[in-house]
Amino acid sequence: MKFFIDTANLAEIKEAYDLGVLDGVTTNPSLMAKENISGQENVINHYKAICDIVDGDISAEVIATDYEGMIAEGLALAALHPNIVVKIPMIKDGIKAIKYFSGKGIKTNCTLIFSAGQALLAAKAGATYVSPFVGRLDDISMDGMKLIEQIRLIFDNYGFETEILAASVRNPIHILKCAEVGSDVITAPLSAILALLNHPLTDSGLAKFLADHKKSAGL
Ligand code: E4P
Repeated sequence: MKFFIDTANLAEIKEAYDLGVLDGVTTNPSLMAKENISGQENVINHYKAICDIVDGDISAEVIATDYEGMIAEGLALAALHPNIVVKIPMIKDGIKAIKYFSGKGIKTNCTLIFSAGQALLAAKAGATYVSPFVGRLDDISMDGMKLIEQIRLIFDNYGFETEILAASVRNPIHILKCAEVGSDVITAPLSAILALLNHPLTDSGLAKFLADHKKSAGL
């Protein structure tokens, strides 16, 4: 399973990449705003800075919601770096844009997926990734993980090459469940990825090993 980090924070992206387990980055307009990145030139420069840190797929989201606008923005984003994946919302014109980009060999990530039907449409249009939002479904008392399972089953039934990119992954349990049900990719905040490191028995075990070593070495 690939690990993407879900942030536009350069320090966090670097920390995750330096860990050696990062395969890519996802951003969205809210995450860019959180880092105070606004204005076309700043946004473009920020994507370039992310591409300089990470050798992997970087999702850059279009703001336009009409077909022509999404095509123009997507082409400009894709021209920035070969690793840019054009992130397109799950709307009617978005599906048309995904079909267009797929024909041009430009990678796409269809975002804001909340149903298996939406994922199926995006896959048929040739999306490289679909992003079902696990946490936001959980937030409204729906089972986000069930959606990942359902999409996995459908994609496997027909051999779709579109990868399931579980998004809105908020904690280490989400990450593990995604791995159990066969998500191709998870995108999560740094805190959720780092939380996988933790176990109290690891901490106490290491403390004991070091204490015993100190004793036997007469330190
Ligand atoms: C990723 O591509 C999504 O934009 C993101 O995972 C949404 O996460 P949130 O529901 O925690 O905002």
